[in-house]
Amino acid sequence: MDRNDISRQIIALTQGETDTVALMATVVCELHHSHPMADWTGFYRVVAPDLLKIGPYQGGHGCLVIPFSRGVCGAAARTGRVLNVPDVDAFPDHIACSSTTRSELVLPVWNAKGKLLGVLDLDSDTTAAFTPEDETWLVPVLAQVFANAE
Ligand code: SME
Repeated sequence: MDRNDISRQIIALTQGETDTVALMATVVCELHHSHPMADWTGFYRVVAPDLLKIGPYQGGHGCLVIPFSRGVCGAAARTGRVLNVPDVDAFPDHIACSSTTRSELVLPVWNAKGKLLGVLDLDSDTTAAFTPEDETWLVPVLAQVFANAE
């Protein structure tokens, strides 16, 4: 499946759904099984001010709690910016939930009211696995899927 097919599949599967966890679980499943470089795919949810907790994911177990002050996920939540880290060893505050992770892409997720719901974290055991095309592809998909989520 190419990116357009995956987008269409995600949009079709999530149409009309507003439950955040149901949406996250579906997005994770579709991305994890279709992205050739994704070895861990999951969401961290904003559960309190400056605090992320693990949400739906696929792959080995992940860290349960990440403050906004820590790691790539925390930095993406704190700054509201997409972070594409080609080499996690070069990111000063990377949290090594899995020793095999070499690169990652983290995208903040908002609803249409501008509420930060969490971050999507794609991790790969391959260095520089995620491309700028992955970023530009996923940003509008996430915006559409989570527009009406709370
Ligand atoms: N790599 C992330 C932590 C989460 S996991 O690897 C599942 C980070 O540094 O934010």
